Amino acid sequence: MMIEALTQTRVMVLLIQNASILLPSGEFFLGDVRVEDDRIAEVGSNLDSTNAQVIDATGLTLLPGVIDPQVHFREPGLEYKEDLFTASCACARGGVTSFLEMPNTKPLTTNQEALDDKLRRASEKCLVNYGFFIGATPANQSDLLTANPACGIKIFMGSMHGDLLVDEESALDAIFSKGDRLIAVHAEDQARIRERRAQYAEVTDPAIHSVIQDNQAALNATQLALKLSKKYHRRLHILHMSTAEEAELMMRDKPEWVTAEVTPQHLVLNTSAYEKLGALVQMNPPIRSPHDNEVLWEALRNGAIDFIATDHAPHTLEEKAKGYPNTPSGMPGVETSLAVMLTQAAQGRCTVAQVSNWMSTAVAKAYRIPNKGLIEPGYDADLVLVDLNHTHPVLREEVVAKCGWNPFEGWELTGWAQVTIVGGKVVYDRGKLNTEVRGRALRFDA
Ligand code: DOR
Repeated sequence: MMIEALTQTRVMVLLIQNASILLPSGEFFLGDVRVEDDRIAEVGSNLDSTNAQVIDATGLTLLPGVIDPQVHFREPGLEYKEDLFTASCACARGGVTSFLEMPNTKPLTTNQEALDDKLRRASEKCLVNYGFFIGATPANQSDLLTANPACGIKIFMGSMHGDLLVDEESALDAIFSKGDRLIAVHAEDQARIRERRAQYAEVTDPAIHSVIQDNQAALNATQLALKLSKKYHRRLHILHMSTAEEAELMMRDKPEWVTAEVTPQHLVLNTSAYEKLGALVQMNPPIRSPHDNEVLWEALRNGAIDFIATDHAPHTLEEKAKGYPNTPSGMPGVETSLAVMLTQAAQGRCTVAQVSNWMSTAVAKAYRIPNKGLIEPGYDADLVLVDLNHTHPVLREEVVAKCGWNPFEGWELTGWAQVTIVGGKVVYDRGKLNTEVRGRALRFDA
């Protein structure tokens, strides 16, 4: 008895009081959430606050923490753009409690050793939970089959130079034919891009980027990936879908083992943004036309596109000022994605429950991440309190990401994260980061 009492450690209790809580049914319930250690223990009314750290959430809405399934956090090797600590701080500010990170770091994450190195770095530095992709090359088949834990295999079918590019059908076929873990593709047709780049070699206006890497380039690659996925009945995820044609393809013909995602920028920005932002909005795949925006929204709303990722891909302002075509592609996103999407909800384009499904629940389901993405007893206490009644602009001086800029600067956003909780610990509270908190490695069920 005595020994048992001595070894019992005290349970940490966090009580979130008086929040508008998003339930798994998609309905809202005004009440409390009791968190014990890292798990949600109870959802109810007037819950006991004895020995609890209390958060008064009056007027705020409680959502499952965002899971961002496509980010480029640059560590190791490119830390001058971003690193796992600064990126995870930006996540905390944005209400992102977990992320899945891409393999185009230095060295590339193409084997167990590189994956272990990232996991070790993340365990030391990350304020939020983390998972990593293993990157495919034309020659690392055995690593793709065995590397663990990995959320999936990433294939750059286009837009990537160096070892990560796999653009030959025979090499792609070999990858699809072996194993059963999820394959996530950056779908752009590299041969077509190469040809068109030569054709427009003299043009220095960054708007040409959307002409060179056109809708057809994206569609060709998505069609090929879909063909291979059907041939082998292989789990396939289409990353950052950008065109009306691909979205229409998904609406017509999407096997139940295939998923697709879209970025906030492909939903709310289009080629008119080049005028004001130039190469800052240059990304791969490029931003498209207002018609593409509309069809992507339609596909998202009707389930043909399953969820949202930012493709957070920070580059410095100096790099972005080099002049096209020497400017790198990509833009940061994790600290504004939730507020951008909740602003769309406030404007009536979708509901708050849909946003939360696209940014958390559906992601956990597709990547088979257990115990995340819902506010329910037994689930991990990864949560975000947002203020749906408060509007605040995106300001460069408030940017946490190391690159120090954001494509939505000046936008008035409604629904910013006020408090972010990772594993039952407050990691961000109204402008203040708690840099002592550490996230955990995500698990992926087979
Ligand atoms: O624009 C992009 N930039 N798209 C990608 O898929 C990669 C990314 C990067 O890492 O910079």
